[in-house]
Amino acid sequence: MDYGPAPESATEALAWIADRPVIGHFINGRFTAPEGETVEVVNPATDAVLTRVGLGTATEVDAAVQAARAAFPKWAALPGHDRARYLYALARHVQKRERFFSVLETLDNGKTIRESRDIDVPLVARHFYHHAGWAELMADDFPGHTALGVCGQIIPWNFPLLMLAWKVAPALAAGNTVVLKPADLTPLTAYAFAEICAEIGLPPGVLNIVNGDGATGALIAGHEGVAKVAFTGSTEVGRVIRRQIAGSGKKLSLELGGKSPFIVFEDADLDAAVEGVVDAIWFNQGEVCCAGSRLLVQEGIAPRFFDRLRKRMETLRGGDPLDKTMDVGALVSRKQLARINGLLAQAEAEGATLHRAPAQMPAQGAFCAPGFLTGTAPAHTVSQTEIFGPIATTLTFRTPDEAITLANDTRYGLAASVWSQNIDRAIEIAAKVKAGVVWINATNIFDAGAPFGGFRESGYGREGGRAGMREYLTAPARPGKPRPDPAPLSGVAPHAGKADRPSIDVTAKLYIGGKQARADGGQSYTVTGKGGVALGQAALANRKDVRNAVEAAGKAGGWGGVTAHNRAQVLYFLAENLSQRAEEFTAALAACGTPKPAEEVAATLRRAFWYAAQADKFDGTVTATKSNHVTLTVNEPFGTMGLIAPDEAPLLGLMSLILPAIAMGNRVVAVASQSHPLLATRLYQVLETSDIPGGVVNLLTGTRDELAKTLAEHDDVAALWYCGSASGVAMVETASAGNLKPVWTDQGLTRDWLDPAQGQGRDFLHRAVQVKTIWLPYGA
Ligand code: NAI
Ligand code: MG
Repeated sequence: MDYGPAPESATEALAWIADRPVIGHFINGRFTAPEGETVEVVNPATDAVLTRVGLGTATEVDAAVQAARAAFPKWAALPGHDRARYLYALARHVQKRERFFSVLETLDNGKTIRESRDIDVPLVARHFYHHAGWAELMADDFPGHTALGVCGQIIPWNFPLLMLAWKVAPALAAGNTVVLKPADLTPLTAYAFAEICAEIGLPPGVLNIVNGDGATGALIAGHEGVAKVAFTGSTEVGRVIRRQIAGSGKKLSLELGGKSPFIVFEDADLDAAVEGVVDAIWFNQGEVCCAGSRLLVQEGIAPRFFDRLRKRMETLRGGDPLDKTMDVGALVSRKQLARINGLLAQAEAEGATLHRAPAQMPAQGAFCAPGFLTGTAPAHTVSQTEIFGPIATTLTFRTPDEAITLANDTRYGLAASVWSQNIDRAIEIAAKVKAGVVWINATNIFDAGAPFGGFRESGYGREGGRAGMREYLTAPARPGKPRPDPAPLSGVAPHAGKADRPSIDVTAKLYIGGKQARADGGQSYTVTGKGGVALGQAALANRKDVRNAVEAAGKAGGWGGVTAHNRAQVLYFLAENLSQRAEEFTAALAACGTPKPAEEVAATLRRAFWYAAQADKFDGTVTATKSNHVTLTVNEPFGTMGLIAPDEAPLLGLMSLILPAIAMGNRVVAVASQSHPLLATRLYQVLETSDIPGGVVNLLTGTRDELAKTLAEHDDVAALWYCGSASGVAMVETASAGNLKPVWTDQGLTRDWLDPAQGQGRDFLHRAVQVKTIWLPYGA
């Protein structure tokens, strides 16, 4: 069948562009001419230069941050209802101009008008409506929580206006103010959105837009007036930002790259799965962070499936993105095209075969024919690297176990799509795949109420729904005092094994894999208590001990799978065993010089009960998102967590970290207080008698920040909590950039661990889990 051209009219959008020969910034409610360099804004489908855009300078970024700071107190103090009305007005105005925004987006980005009109822009409106609702419900749903301040938000070019909505809507709903930087390749719709903000009378400074490239982005992230950085883009830049702002106290959320598996079982509805591939990897020219870019197909159906895929590819139409009948538009730039072509050449050199849609693509513009690769092996570059273009890699598998192994054989963990008519199988895969979003018999569907975000090197933090709101809120803490560094170790000596000095009656070991273990280096240090009295020797753990403990924790993976009821029982049992030895622990705390030893022991027992109670109650949610779907948000454990305990409450501080982490199914490697480690070593026997499986809790003693650094750098540690000094906070945050583990710190400030409002609570549980969003077919 042949189609005639059916172009959408670009007259209005082109006139709008013609009136704006240069795109500047939107600062404090005013449109400002760029003071620095400008670069071309190109339509990648025609190579035509549309206009120019300024690259924001330090002065411009500073002006925007100052405006956002000035606007913050009033905006945050508005009743939620008043903020809701602004967000509602933004949604309405976007909706009224859907056609204009769609065309503008297509001109700037190259995506087809079908997608910008039917997907991007409606989702933008939906996002503002949804978050108008959260603004309305702030006091009811997030009692005691407040906004953070100025949010620096940096977005990419693949969904320019939609990414703006994902960032801006929750930030403003929660009462924050914003400095946002669009990608320099696609600044137009953000600018048009700023015009709507001015039109509806959004108070000046609440939303500021500074255009620019990576250098401008770095200025925003690094500005001291910014309280939170939210970034979507490449994993490389995510790492750069993590390191750049380490130790600054800024909150960070990262939505990074992916290499998401698309898993087809032989009992799948094959026609549906083939259509799924179209939406998974050819949608938006494959420039989608959660694209189903690795097709994993069960061996028995693989030839048939690839055959059908080839046939389906023949019907794809590529060309003028403004043509309403087009399936495939242009890539964002010729640079992106060159990058993709380079990766495809490498794939062919490595032995893969490229199957390409036969459709002729226009010679002019950044067009890339859709396709897929066969003959790719897991180790090939294209199997591991994000192509970010309309080309999938393929692998076959025999068994569900093999499918899971292949699916998880990546550094990323953004999304996964599972195709099977067997409900048991589909749900088993959803549970086992390491990804923040799982679609069952569906792919690339989004909703403002469904949290979106990654596991592993795909980043952390969620966008959308209740979890997304939490990224822009904080429970105000009573700030403590800067925590001093522990005194240097004294009396470091070879481990004697037994009492080796008359005044010393304890030579403690480490606790690894459920057993007491001697320190690898064979060294111990002297622990002193009240009045400088030597209390005993503690083992001096080194890097090797950390690695052993992480390995032991890794082997205890079954803990995440035991029922919450069982975990609760173990915590109750632990409390019971501890209570039998309450006097001994009280005396040991008193010997350390702790101000309220009996209270600390009592609080530890209560805390164990509280987290035991939460173990089977801190649940996810079910959300009605799209018709024919229900969306589960499941709280999943990270796996192995590193915990660095504070000095100020040697028993309670340590247990306040361990209890929520293990209640949620994590295994932990905990570093005890460096000054008072003997409280932790007394716990070994309590742990041994409490039915906690070996490896679930591992305890180390030694030089706090040396052990913290090793844990922060370790690739098998999935999350880290650090209660040390300010310099240590900067160190662990920097070191965490390797595998991009989320890090929570108390910013180097002491807290009153006895106070449940500070030392306990649902916030600890939220930090102990990562949300997995599972889309299930449901309803008529
Ligand atoms: P990028 O990560 O450099 O760009 C994304 C945004 O970050 C842009 O606004 C850019 O100006 C800004 N940026 C760049 N360097 C920065 C820095 N040091 N500090 C602060 N902001 C900075 O991505 P790029 O170069 O455009 O694309 C390269 C690859 O990245 C793509 O091929 C794709 O694999 C991946 N990518 C992933 C995206 C996602 O949605 N996860 C989006 C865009 C790119
Ligand atoms: Mg452009």
